[in-house]
Amino acid sequence: MTTTETYPPITMSERADAAEEELILALAKSSRPAVSPLYRLGEMDPTHNRGPIPETAVEWDSGRKMLMRDDPRLPKMPDKPTLMDYFRYRIAPANHLLQSATHALKGGHSEKVVLACLLHDISVLGFIRADHGYWGAQMLEPYVDEEVTWAIRAHQALRFFPDESVDYYYPEMYVRLFGDNYQPEPYIVQAYEEAKKHKWYMTARLITLNDIYSFDPDAVVHWEDFIDIIGRNFKQPEEGLGFDGSPVAHMWRTLNWPTRAL
Ligand SMILES: [Fe+2]
Ligand SMILES: [Fe+2]
Repeated sequence: MTTTETYPPITMSERADAAEEELILALAKSSRPAVSPLYRLGEMDPTHNRGPIPETAVEWDSGRKMLMRDDPRLPKMPDKPTLMDYFRYRIAPANHLLQSATHALKGGHSEKVVLACLLHDISVLGFIRADHGYWGAQMLEPYVDEEVTWAIRAHQALRFFPDESVDYYYPEMYVRLFGDNYQPEPYIVQAYEEAKKHKWYMTARLITLNDIYSFDPDAVVHWEDFIDIIGRNFKQPEEGLGFDGSPVAHMWRTLNWPTRAL
């Protein structure tokens, strides 16, 4: 049995968007998506690869242009995308987040905690895995309460450190994933030490507590349970995420158009 994740129904305007998407697909047949250096790091040595990079070597004679906006291989985003649009069109299925938030909701926690659980791994699922707590917090910072992003940032470190007073133990899964002898790096240890003394420590700790129960492949979860909480706690910019001129708008635009040449 697979995990079920349900979305609100498709609206008329979204159907119109789908038609527009087909048109863009036809128009963009001859364009070339770019692959960012970050995507290749680890797959090839950037300091020694001096060969041509096909995605950036424009074939001047063929008339093929580089992509500078929508990638026809991806669903087209609305012009003024909302958080839910990103979840619908750009971010991997969010079962883990929905399960975590559902646990928090059932546990009677505050909307801030539920929202923090709902968004805590947004970077893993949609953007960048390494240092995901930091990236996730940063991209959300202008739109949610400071306590929410503080907690999301801190969960990155707290995940590695038990707190027996609230029955949080080092995750078994980490032993399987990282081995018996894995030691968090000094910056993670330092972040943990600082978080321990912080007034919002328990908000971040609650993310880790609800996190460990959130890997049930049979759980049925619903976005509908969280739409109102998002509405009350996420300041959706009128211009759309990515186009509001916030200090992190570029992060959302990159998620919208990940293969733009520049
Ligand atoms: Fe996480
Ligand atoms: Fe998680």
